[in-house]
Amino acid sequence: MKRTDILIIGTGLAGAVAAITAADKGSKVTILTKTESALSGNTMHAQGGIIYKGIDDSPEKLKQDIMAAGNDHCRESAVDELCENGARLVQELLCDRFGVEFDKDSHENLDLTAEGAHSVPRIVHSKDKTGETIQEKLVKALNEHPNVELIADTTVVDLLTLSHHSTDLLDIYKKPACFGALMLDNKSGSVYSIYASKTILATGGLGQIFRHTTNPNESTGDGIALAWRAGARCFNLQYIQFHPTTFYNEHDRFLLSESMRGEGAVLIDKDGRRFMEDFHKQGSLAPRDIVARGIHQTMLNTGHPCVYLDISHKDSDWLKTRFPTIYSHCLNSGTDLTREPVPVVPASHYSCGGIGVSKRGRTSLQHLYAIGEVSCTGVHGANRLASTSLLEAVVWGFNAGKDAAATYQEGNHFPEIFPWEDGNEYIDPALIMQDWMTVKSTMWNYVGLVRTRQRLHRAATILRHLQTEVEQFYQKAKMTKEIVQLRNGVQTAVAVTSATLEARVSKGAHYLQD
Ligand code: SIN
Repeated sequence: MKRTDILIIGTGLAGAVAAITAADKGSKVTILTKTESALSGNTMHAQGGIIYKGIDDSPEKLKQDIMAAGNDHCRESAVDELCENGARLVQELLCDRFGVEFDKDSHENLDLTAEGAHSVPRIVHSKDKTGETIQEKLVKALNEHPNVELIADTTVVDLLTLSHHSTDLLDIYKKPACFGALMLDNKSGSVYSIYASKTILATGGLGQIFRHTTNPNESTGDGIALAWRAGARCFNLQYIQFHPTTFYNEHDRFLLSESMRGEGAVLIDKDGRRFMEDFHKQGSLAPRDIVARGIHQTMLNTGHPCVYLDISHKDSDWLKTRFPTIYSHCLNSGTDLTREPVPVVPASHYSCGGIGVSKRGRTSLQHLYAIGEVSCTGVHGANRLASTSLLEAVVWGFNAGKDAAATYQEGNHFPEIFPWEDGNEYIDPALIMQDWMTVKSTMWNYVGLVRTRQRLHRAATILRHLQTEVEQFYQKAKMTKEIVQLRNGVQTAVAVTSATLEARVSKGAHYLQD
């Protein structure tokens, strides 16, 4: 058994900012990732950029844009927190502390770009790989910090809670609290516990529960499942944001940043017609939920399997410099975006809901925090405004790191826990693969961009049955990362489907056709 002041699960932007903030204040921080390298997760895939501040911009203007995109379902105090502190923290932390350099124009001013539903250009970027540039700097800082221990290749099996793990049965009468986590060393297969005064979930997204997603393989919804089983409150899970434009081919989906539309790309149908103007006055730059559904409807109207994103009217050298990653990916898949429109379809992108948290990132469970995409601060409401996710990760990563460091000495109760009972059954990988396919196709077809109550009920039945099966073999299995991820993926799919069934109002990213 290990012991630490602050345990952080997830090494993306939110987790890394929290770790360094707490470590700077003297706390002993253990931060871990289930992947082999800390250069992983959704942050690495964020292309477009991070909100800073535009010319003639103000926190009030940003607030209006966020609230309008969020369909009047945002938590106003959380939006204020983001708008009032975001730009300052980008400057102080990302630029000054970690040395992130954002692109500049020919006059050495920050190159500000726009994205859908922003009233002014206010997004800073590093070409089309902003997340990767930021993450590289943060992982370097984590590795160099004397108070930070970074552990890779380690998967969290469950959070430790008084109600579930204490051998003292009277602990059930105490306030529900988390005191660390059970870990699986992916390489050795051994399971051990880490006791922590404060535990911070920063596990990122859940895109892999859908057949088509912009998220990497590791985004299996672990944090929602861990919190759900531990009894922490989650909300707004029905608001799954679908990114309107991912590269369409038979094999994969690849994000085509919204900043392409910010720089002048337009959506056209198979006959070259600009169809988004039929759906919203902002056309191709309307809020994401509207654009994604506009594309869906146009695909149905035309009977064509995709629509097209056209930026070929821009200078080709400029395009190659501004969007080098996207340009190469499209070219390798047979489309030269400097000359022709790119085939696109929507794909699951971001969970606007998650584990409910306060301004300091505290969850409903004592000593447990959640930050980044896994959390729900209320900023995004029913539909997230583009490029707010990295900003939210910085603000709440900072707030949670600061709060955890200021309070970890208040003490936590570390009870004796029941010993881990490892199973010995080998689980056939074919079962795991097939179960994942069931989760992904059920979520895509029944809990996707356009929903009906009949589809949702069908999804709930399929997923609950699958969950029982998976839970049974999980109990007997020799533990592996793959089994833990499947168990989490199914649990998260059940949680999203239940929230969607319970949602009373069709709004934003939750679109109920009937
Ligand atoms: C994009 O570049 O379009 C993704 C940015 C975001 O999701 O905020």
